[in-house]
Amino acid sequence: MTRLLYIEASPRKDRSSSIKVARAFVEEYKKTHSADTVDILDLWKTELPSFDGDVINAKYAILHGEQHTEAQKKAWKAVEDAIAHFKGADKYIISLPMWNFGIPYKLKHFIDVLVQPGYTFSFTPSEGYKGLVTGKPVALVYARGGAYGPGTGAESMDYQKSYMEHILGFIGFTNIQSIIIEPTLMVSHEERGQLIEKAIEQAQKIASGY
Ligand SMILES: Cc1cc2nc3c(=O)[nH]c(=O)nc-3n(C[C@H](O)[C@H](O)[C@H](O)COP(=O)(O)O)c2cc1C
Repeated sequence: MTRLLYIEASPRKDRSSSIKVARAFVEEYKKTHSADTVDILDLWKTELPSFDGDVINAKYAILHGEQHTEAQKKAWKAVEDAIAHFKGADKYIISLPMWNFGIPYKLKHFIDVLVQPGYTFSFTPSEGYKGLVTGKPVALVYARGGAYGPGTGAESMDYQKSYMEHILGFIGFTNIQSIIIEPTLMVSHEERGQLIEKAIEQAQKIASGY
């Protein structure tokens, strides 16, 4: 059965612009793909392993081609479970606000758990780095207080979209679609509603053909 995984990175819930648009995506997807399953991963309600102690030693053991100790094996299990849950999906939608020109720390933590050698990417001297999550689409809903699109003069300050595209590309994604809601903090309440409506239309169009 086809599984869509929706990853939610804003803590603002009902007040969040990115979540409003992503929820409309998910609703449209359910309507048009009634046989599929939709899983929601709310990063503000998910316990992720801290990257310290045995977990980080386990990562370096893999990098150095060493066996895991029993303690490392046990600690690494939480990382493997998070990766297996992610890789078990067939399609993805991620919604996120811009925070300090980049991404919220909960999403960065999730990425630090997810991006592991031998699981989501590989390295060989002959082939270099290769992403291992291939053949799956990902759609991203970005919300930003300011404007960073073409012609704004602020394009180079956008480490949100550029980082997400870089890291998703690194682990193998090539089909990456984006929906941008900006500038959410520079407009009136009414204009923000219009920005969201426009983004919802775009999201529904992508979702129905996803
Ligand atoms: C901690 C924090 C940092 C932020 N940093 C930026 C920023 O660097 N640039 C920007 O344009 N907006 C910034 N914002 C504003 C949010 O990106 C904006 O309000 C966005 O619409 C929030 O999306 P959401 O409603 O889905 O959470 C920041 C907001 C917060 C809470």
